[in-house]
Amino acid sequence: MESTTLKTIIQGIPKAELHLHIEGSFEPELMFEIANRNNIKLDYDSIDSLKKAYKFNNLQEFLDIYYTGAKVLIHEQDFFDLTWAYLTKVHSQNLVHVEVFFDPQTHTDRGIAFEVVINGIHKALEKAKQELNISYKLIMSYLRHLSEEAAFKTLESSLPFKHWIDGVGLDSSEMGNPPSKFVRVFEASAKQGYKLVAHAGEEGPADYIWEALDLLHVVRIDHGNRCLDDEALVQRLVENKIPLTLCPLSNVELKVIQKMEEHPLVNMLQKGLLATIHSDDPAYFGGYMNENYYETAKALKLNIEQLMQLAINAFEASWLSPEAKENHIAQVRSYFNSLD
Ligand code: ADE
Ligand code: ZN
Repeated sequence: MESTTLKTIIQGIPKAELHLHIEGSFEPELMFEIANRNNIKLDYDSIDSLKKAYKFNNLQEFLDIYYTGAKVLIHEQDFFDLTWAYLTKVHSQNLVHVEVFFDPQTHTDRGIAFEVVINGIHKALEKAKQELNISYKLIMSYLRHLSEEAAFKTLESSLPFKHWIDGVGLDSSEMGNPPSKFVRVFEASAKQGYKLVAHAGEEGPADYIWEALDLLHVVRIDHGNRCLDDEALVQRLVENKIPLTLCPLSNVELKVIQKMEEHPLVNMLQKGLLATIHSDDPAYFGGYMNENYYETAKALKLNIEQLMQLAINAFEASWLSPEAKENHIAQVRSYFNSLD
């Protein structure tokens, strides 16, 4: 397929994003703008020199820069601007539904109130619902390099805003911080009505995916690449229709794989796994949803049926109502039918 044809097809697909860290959508231009108005000096003297630092050998090297960048976010307006910039960008890529992660502890640990963070994010999400017709869910992620006690404090702080939060997740440094560390706080989160997801098997072993399923009782696995090391685990994921929210550009940039051609996506689809494509931290990894679809499709020579399957899988895996899912999936099918 011609690359312009492929790009045009991808652009037109109605898409859902289920794995996106709002702090990872912080583009250098906006980071400098917000740093300036908050009188904060960044470690880099220009947008270009900041962008040049975006070379990572592993997850931790990325996280170090990602947490540093987030330090310029102080006021509600900053969180609003960050979220609104993401939403307008993805609107231009024909995203119709987003499920967004935010990392409260990245901000509360710097003395920013939980309500400042969530008010800004929530206002932008609501504006996008009204003005851009983008539906949304919001997921609060616990930082796994911190203690379970700290996660409990975050859960506590979230309760006045419970009606704005759909689920909890688990992110940050995976190795050495297994899901088993967070059993009680996930149980308490479920009691509050939050849905549960966790990053697992990005850098960490297949065992961490088992733990996320059996100990945390998550309904989706974020990444999950390493499930392929364990055939019994693959069977479990297939049988229980547990979605894997894959992030191909992230995997290349964080050296989870050496090059896109090695991405296990096709293998996963062939095994019957409910695999979906997302952008993770688009400002850091060189692309939003369309670029993730495009680079994956090009490297793995995905055909039209596989592209359609991926788009449908994302709605299937979402937390939309059965009616809304059906509606979106019908739109995807009708879009692909209109192509021939
Ligand atoms: N936080 C932001 N992006 C992440 C990723 N890819 N893995 C773990 N934690 C993250
Ligand atoms: Zn992630």
